[in-house]
Amino acid sequence: MLNKEYLERRDEEIEEISTNESIAQAIENGLIIVAQQVIGQGKEAFVCWGIDNEDRFVAVKTYKLYKTTHRGVIHGTRRGNPYAVISQFAKLEYYKNLDMFQAKLPVPEPYKYAGFSYAMELIGDEEGPAPLLRDLSKSFFDDPADVLEECIEILYDMFQAHFVHGDFSEHNLLWHDEKVHAIDFLQAKSFALKDAVPYGSALIPLSRAYRILRKDLNSLLPFFKRLFRIEVDYNEVLEYILGDIKENVDREIELNLETSS
Ligand SMILES: Nc1ncnc2c1ncn2[C@@H]1O[C@H](COP(=O)(O)OP(=O)(O)OP(=O)(O)O)[C@@H](O)[C@H]1O
Ligand SMILES: [Mg+2]
Repeated sequence: MLNKEYLERRDEEIEEISTNESIAQAIENGLIIVAQQVIGQGKEAFVCWGIDNEDRFVAVKTYKLYKTTHRGVIHGTRRGNPYAVISQFAKLEYYKNLDMFQAKLPVPEPYKYAGFSYAMELIGDEEGPAPLLRDLSKSFFDDPADVLEECIEILYDMFQAHFVHGDFSEHNLLWHDEKVHAIDFLQAKSFALKDAVPYGSALIPLSRAYRILRKDLNSLLPFFKRLFRIEVDYNEVLEYILGDIKENVDREIELNLETSS
């Protein structure tokens, strides 16, 4: 009988897949035909770039086994077999990326998912990936205020398309072709224009999206202040990004105050 204890023990015995094995699998699954280089190695995923059978430069993001004792729902995935969880992560991120791409936001074009990986357009060229904003020096930009303005425009377009990114910072923004591009979508969410969403809905309530947007802004603005000494008014920028959705946000704030008093 498969009891809880047995399942937990089995989790511990599950083996991590090596980077080389994962790359071999991505090739076997047809995501790429040649792997060039590993470009990012995080706790949850690693990214390598290569070339696919259509001769495109591709970034492949592969999830690592989810090692945590935390039970319950993670990114909308019920924790069960850890292999099933990470293949679900790859699929989920692929579709979140696709939604944003179809909304014409500056994100890579997602190509395919398979196994524990998903393949997308490489932001970069034959030399490899473009740099992250965090890796660029102070003197790199003629006018860093323009770059901040561009980031704010992206947040505005995302919010108006009813998306929040959830990790919108210099760590997930690439500079390529004189433009900012956003990556890393697993934590991104689509939101409803009100707080009432049916149980099991793919949309999050508006107040939660508003909190995520404020958090994103709270990591973006200090980066520009620290590195480039550019200071902008947080509330003014927030109000701009909210646009007409501000009316809905204000209504929820008011209603929430009423119900909690
Ligand atoms: N499409 C892409 N084009 C170029 N470089 C990319 C692309 N996607 C990812 N990268 C590079 O790989 C790194 C890791 O990617 P990403 O931010 O998606 O994963 P991560 O931060 O490890 O994910 P997590 O935060 O879930 O652990 C990025 O910092 C970036 O340098
Ligand atoms: Mg990242």
